[in-house]
Amino acid sequence: MADMLNIALPKGRLGDKVYDMFERAGFECPSIKEKNRKLIFENEEAGIRYFWGKPSDVAIYVERGAADIGVAGKDILVEYEPDVYELADLEVGKCRMCVAGPLDYEDDPDRTLRVATKFVKTAIDYYSSRGRDIDIIKLNGSIELAPILGLSDVIVDIVETGTTLKENKLEIKREIYPISARLIANKSGFKFKNEAIEKLLVKIAELKETE
Ligand code: PRP
Repeated sequence: MADMLNIALPKGRLGDKVYDMFERAGFECPSIKEKNRKLIFENEEAGIRYFWGKPSDVAIYVERGAADIGVAGKDILVEYEPDVYELADLEVGKCRMCVAGPLDYEDDPDRTLRVATKFVKTAIDYYSSRGRDIDIIKLNGSIELAPILGLSDVIVDIVETGTTLKENKLEIKREIYPISARLIANKSGFKFKNEAIEKLLVKIAELKETE
């Protein structure tokens, strides 16, 4: 149904947490709690439909209007700059974008720095603002392997608890920016489904105040 509010959530731990927040805000969809591999859940009566998307894809669904609203990490918004409205900081999924490297690594400014990352734009922008030449090595996961295997000097990656770095004898060298989950909206969806979206925004603001 076109007038349903379509909500894209990132599947995984963060998405579960955000769904609980939306449920407490009155946007419940009980079938989502069923243990199955379904990706779409509806509460027809309430006019709400949820989808579970890959976290890095949620902003694409929202930008293109397949979802009216969604939840994406600030890292994704900085890296891909989707043409969406950023409506609220949900203050969950907190972590940091960092430069990390081996404990004994010291930067030699005369050499091109080899940087492994999933976040190519973030890394290029960060180092170009510092006037540093880099060689980007784009990886898709387990970025921490790169400096251990000598594939790169440093990595630009997300650090949450710091455990992955610690267990691989790496450390934070620089913090680039803090990350948290953001509520985003499709630009025309925001206009046409404004009443429901504003209601969600108000409820979320109330929830944040009481927590
Ligand atoms: C992310 C990130 C780090 C890790 C940080 O990886 O890329 O590897 O989590 O978390 P920590 O500081 O709590 O250890 P993710 O688990 O998403 O998988 P990936 O390696 O495939 O990117």
